[in-house]
Amino acid sequence: MVGEHQTHHHNMLVSLALLLAAAFGLWVFFQIQRPKNFPPGPPPIPLFGNLLEIQLDNPIADLERLAKRYGNVYGLFLGSRPAVVIHGVSALKRALVNKSADFSDRAEDLFVRHAAHTKAQAPGVVLSPYNSGWREHRRFTLMTLRNFGLGKQSMEDRILGETRRVMEFLEQSDGEPINPETLFHKAASNIIFQVLFAKRFDNEDDSMKFFTNFFRETSKIINGPWSLLYDSFPAVRYLPLPFKRGFEMFKMSHERYLEMFVETKKTRVPGKPRHFVDAYLDELEKRGDEAFFSEDQLCAIILDLHFAGTDTTANTLLSGLLYLMKYPHIQEYCQQEIDKVMQGKNEVSFEDRVQMPYVQAVIHEIQRTANTVPLSVFHCTTRDTELMGYSIPKGTLIIPNLSSVLNEKGQWKSSHEFNPENFLNENGEFVQPEAFMPFSTGPRVCLGEGLARMELFIILVSLLRKFRFIWPEDAEEPDLTPVFGVTQTPKPYSLKVQVRSRC
Ligand code: HEM
Repeated sequence: MVGEHQTHHHNMLVSLALLLAAAFGLWVFFQIQRPKNFPPGPPPIPLFGNLLEIQLDNPIADLERLAKRYGNVYGLFLGSRPAVVIHGVSALKRALVNKSADFSDRAEDLFVRHAAHTKAQAPGVVLSPYNSGWREHRRFTLMTLRNFGLGKQSMEDRILGETRRVMEFLEQSDGEPINPETLFHKAASNIIFQVLFAKRFDNEDDSMKFFTNFFRETSKIINGPWSLLYDSFPAVRYLPLPFKRGFEMFKMSHERYLEMFVETKKTRVPGKPRHFVDAYLDELEKRGDEAFFSEDQLCAIILDLHFAGTDTTANTLLSGLLYLMKYPHIQEYCQQEIDKVMQGKNEVSFEDRVQMPYVQAVIHEIQRTANTVPLSVFHCTTRDTELMGYSIPKGTLIIPNLSSVLNEKGQWKSSHEFNPENFLNENGEFVQPEAFMPFSTGPRVCLGEGLARMELFIILVSLLRKFRFIWPEDAEEPDLTPVFGVTQTPKPYSLKVQVRSRC
């Protein structure tokens, strides 16, 4: 009896020891090694890395806290994947500009890359590795945007045309509160779509609804909690988690683009490009079999330009109206300057900005506070490199914290409030501090910056000239806290417009 009891006891001890050994083994197995001389950061715990110390649905405040503790360049582990977060204008310029050849790659193994459904040989532009294919496509895209009107009247006309439709819609609201959530997505989407396919969609069109939802939803999935989990733990990728929705939507978008592509090819006349797609096909024929250009690559770029060109501009405009309603005196001051400069003119042109320093300052301040792409598009190192004395291995994920620069103490007259003085000197002239970096910096800087600036100016000036934007009396105070994602959006709100009587 006693012997039996002892054996049982013994067995239990052995099991416990085995369990502890297994746990220890797992702990050691998942132990995360900091690469030698890696930037300092919070100690990663096995398996999870540092994921448990950042708020996954909006890490901005935590990233700020960690920078205070560890400095402007610090290491962070997403699961076992090492990443380096870069804060502040000085460190960011050192990495993305001074060492651009080391810091301009994109990571392969991420949700966004997998979901965008692009083939390895056809990564598009936004997510392309830093190589000759990227360089040639970037150059070609910028050139073709210019050929189809950027910097010329024809692009301004497209923007004005879409602005007129926005104004018609607002006018019909007849003083009743409206929800502007998708208003600017439709306008921005049509502007870039006219370049891509010489085509636009009416608001009620099924494709317009699809793309608007697609951009709005997926921009919250990318960099959101589920895509962070996807990026951190390869094992969860096969589970039916909400990132699957992202995959589905990208796939559906692909099918739609393909249909339009096949359709427009039917009426194409080689050498007589009507739009971006024709111009690309001409280039493809000219180059023959050269590896970089292909129809798959064209499809990837259509998605890139449509997505990057819509959600960014639209969310910036949405934030802009919110701020202008929150600060009606700033809105009024803009309107006075607009009335003065536009006297006797029919429509605004991009050139008028030179005479509108205050409006320019307000638009820049909108971009600064809207903080539309807070963590840029993640970069990646092309080779083993160094930054501020630390070593960063090849293939490390780089998170450029643009948000930290746009709010950086010491770079702005007032960094924590909406204040157009941030962009005005003592003579009331417009100035742009070097920390104005909403489009990022270095060779990967936003390719659509020129178009975006033109859109923001023409749309906002036209709208402010015609309407007064009013926060509905019965609504709660405006909430300026953005909803996080690869692009940020203001919280849903309603607005009222009043047609201004111009004197
Ligand atoms: C207010 C509007 C916009 C903002 C705030 C914005 C911001 C950005 C940012 C932060 C990046 C990442 C840069 C980096 O990786 O360091 C980017 C890249 C890019 N943007 Fe924009 N963008 C805007 C509008 C546009 C428009 C209208 C287009 C379309 C023509 C566009 C096309 C692109 C493309 C193609 C890239 C990838 C560039 C590359 O990887 O080489 N963007 N943008």
